[in-house]
Amino acid sequence: MFGIIGAMQEEIDLLHSQMDDRVEMNRSGIVFYTGSLNEKPVVLCKCGVGKVNAAVYTQVLIDRFNVKQVIFTGVAGAVDPELNIGDVVISTSCLQHDIDVTALGFARGVIPYQPSSEWKADEQLVAMAKEAGEIVLPGRVKLGKVLSGDQFIADRNQVQELFEVFGGACTEMEGAAVAQVCAMNDVGYVVIRSMSDKADGSASVNFAEFTIEASNNSYRIVNEMLKRI
Ligand code: ADE
Repeated sequence: MFGIIGAMQEEIDLLHSQMDDRVEMNRSGIVFYTGSLNEKPVVLCKCGVGKVNAAVYTQVLIDRFNVKQVIFTGVAGAVDPELNIGDVVISTSCLQHDIDVTALGFARGVIPYQPSSEWKADEQLVAMAKEAGEIVLPGRVKLGKVLSGDQFIADRNQVQELFEVFGGACTEMEGAAVAQVCAMNDVGYVVIRSMSDKADGSASVNFAEFTIEASNNSYRIVNEMLKRI
C-alpha cells in the first residue's frame, strides 16, 4: 500500500479525483482516502502546512494503514538558480533548514544528539520517479536535496543563502518531517515537488499564479509512477 501525501488541496485535487473505489476514512481525527490509482492500492491525505502536520499524518499512515512506502507530492520554491517555475525536483534527501542550535556549536540544520539530520530518499522510489519524470516532463526533472522549514521563503538573499549553506535544490515546508518519520519507522519515501516560485521577492505572487500548474506536474509524475509499477 502506497501512502500519498500533499499539504494543500491543490496538491491532492487531481489524485483525489482520479481515485477509483474511493472511500473517505477518519483515523485519529484525520481524514484519509483509500482506493486505487492505476489499479494500485493507495491511501491519500492532505496533511496541512508545516512540519508538525506532516509528521503526524505520516505516522498515522504508517500505524493505522500499514503503509510501507510514502510519496509526497506538491509544490516548492526553487533554491537551485538553474530551476525554473514548473520544473520538478525529486528528492535524493531531505533536511530541516530551520533547525538552528549554532549557539551550542552545532552546524545549521543539525539536530543535536541524533544519528542523522538528513534523510536519504528510497533509491527505488527515486529511480521510479525519475523514469516517470523523463516520460511526462522530459528535460525538466532534477534530482536534489529538499530543504524543509516552517517558513515560506520569499527573499532573494535568504534563498541564495540556503543554496550556499545547504546546496539544496528547492525549499518547502513538509518533506523533511515526512522523511524523518519514515526513517524512524524504516519506511521508504520520496518527495516530488514542482516549482511554483523561486523563493525570491516575487514568490508570493508566483505561488498564487503557478501552484495549480506546478501541482499538475507533480501529479503527472506520481500518476506515471503508479502506472509503471
Ligand atoms: N512552497 C512553495 N513555495 C515555497 C516557498 N517559497 N517557501 C516555502 N515553501 C514553499
